[in-house]
Amino acid sequence: MIGDEAKSRRLMSLLKKRGFLQPAFEIYGGVAGLYDYGPLGGRLRRKVMQKWLNHWISLGNIVEIDSPTITPEEVLKASGHIGAFNDYASECNSCNSIFRSDHLLEGFHTNPDSLDGSSLDSEIELHKIPCPSCSKVDWLPAKPLNLMFSTTIGSSKIGRKAYMRPETAQGMFLQFPSIYRHFRSKLPFGAVQMGKGYRNEISPRQGMIRLREFNMAELEYFIDPLMKIEHKLNEWDSIKLKLIPDPVGNDPEEILLSVSDAVKKGIIRHQTVGWFMIKTYELMSELGINSELMRFRQHEGDEMAHYATDCWDLEIFGGYGWIECVGIAYRGCYDLEAHQKSSKSNELRAWRDFEEHITVEKRVCSPIQSKIGPVFKDKSKFITDYLESLEEIPQKFPIVIANQGEEHIIESDMVEIKNTKIIQRGEWFIPHVIEPAFGIDRIIWHILEHSHKEISKKDDENYTVLSLNSDVVPIDFSVYPLFEKDGMGLASKKIVENIRSIKGINANYDGSKSIGRRYARGDEVGVPFAITVDHQSLEDNTITLRERDSQNQKRMSIEDLLKFVSEYK
Ligand code: GLY
Repeated sequence: MIGDEAKSRRLMSLLKKRGFLQPAFEIYGGVAGLYDYGPLGGRLRRKVMQKWLNHWISLGNIVEIDSPTITPEEVLKASGHIGAFNDYASECNSCNSIFRSDHLLEGFHTNPDSLDGSSLDSEIELHKIPCPSCSKVDWLPAKPLNLMFSTTIGSSKIGRKAYMRPETAQGMFLQFPSIYRHFRSKLPFGAVQMGKGYRNEISPRQGMIRLREFNMAELEYFIDPLMKIEHKLNEWDSIKLKLIPDPVGNDPEEILLSVSDAVKKGIIRHQTVGWFMIKTYELMSELGINSELMRFRQHEGDEMAHYATDCWDLEIFGGYGWIECVGIAYRGCYDLEAHQKSSKSNELRAWRDFEEHITVEKRVCSPIQSKIGPVFKDKSKFITDYLESLEEIPQKFPIVIANQGEEHIIESDMVEIKNTKIIQRGEWFIPHVIEPAFGIDRIIWHILEHSHKEISKKDDENYTVLSLNSDVVPIDFSVYPLFEKDGMGLASKKIVENIRSIKGINANYDGSKSIGRRYARGDEVGVPFAITVDHQSLEDNTITLRERDSQNQKRMSIEDLLKFVSEYK
């Protein structure tokens, strides 16, 4: 299916004209992949993000956190982003232009993103892909380029190397101990974070689809992999999701299945992944994404991010074709384990009680209190617990224990290594993580595309309506005096004030140009209701309420209008 790119371009020019979106730094020539949200776009973005947040927080065991966007190098080394977070780039040997290798193959291969360097080179050669800049077919071998923006914390000579975060997820992993305590050590639970992410894309294009700085919203859901979680998936049996399981080869098959059937058949490999898929579908529909234009595509083995063991993308269809907007990945214990090893902390783990206690013979590292106490004082309990809970006896001493930014050195004479019988009541383990990750800008773009209706020609122009859902519209009500004179302007402003005093409802006043032009301006930016104040309003306190999508008009008293406004969401 091919998208209507010309319509997308018309939409972008409308959004620019009306203050939703625009290329950033435009008066300085602009920078590819950086966009501004304007006065209406800023409000739309805030509402989408708020709805996203409410959707997950209302589940009860999910909390919001916030962490810095500047991330020290060690964190991203441990997470695998240094080394594995690359896109392949091909350089034209003739004009030295650089392009993403998989982008060169679009239209020639169903999933070029899944190819490695040599397969990309072979496909580019096979299809004799010309350079988009100079049209020659002369490519150097594809090279992996890391996508992170680097920086230095402190002075550039002696400072600490760091990167702008490529995902918000790492913040949630590093805050795991605090979230674990917050939930009284009871899994499952989750944390969300919304904020900026940064990727130095090789050749960003397609407007809001590929940005270098973008709005992310991610949820990390921590589970015990041995605990059976029931999600009552059959509550959603009436909804059939479009699924493309593991699309091997060139002909991906789309199937329609309820989420519970897809889990039963093993197509969706984990119940909680299925639950997040349906909850994501629900949220997207409520935001105004057309359910016919959504599908879930399972990643092929080679395409999966370095941390994932199963991953489904929610793809949304628009002017640029099918675009990945959400990724729902089963990350296993990859991240917590990597950070635990790399930081030497032992706090990124959870405790699981056994159903029945067991007695085992174990070699233990038993702290000698007469040595530990005098050295570690108020930290002695922490050190004792740490040593007693070690699963493996250290090969050699001294060992270093890190805790809250301090390092504690344990010498060999502070412990006794011995065999002992212990009653095991449970065990430590590293929780697994399921992550739904949302590209907010891409979602906003598709909300706008799916609500963009070019209805008919009026006054030689396309009559355009943005039929945005009332939860995300930047302006809820526009109030128009038929004329500004004779008190109609003042009466309209009073109505605007009254509406604005109702919590969460936004109204604006527009008194310029003909009433028809004003209706058109309101429709174009998605205002669901227009209120017109005319001569009759001054006599009997009534107004006309016009509904955006049906264009139906109804006369009503101002009192009834305010009642309607307070009940409308
Ligand atoms: N955390 C998901 C992503 O980086 O795309």
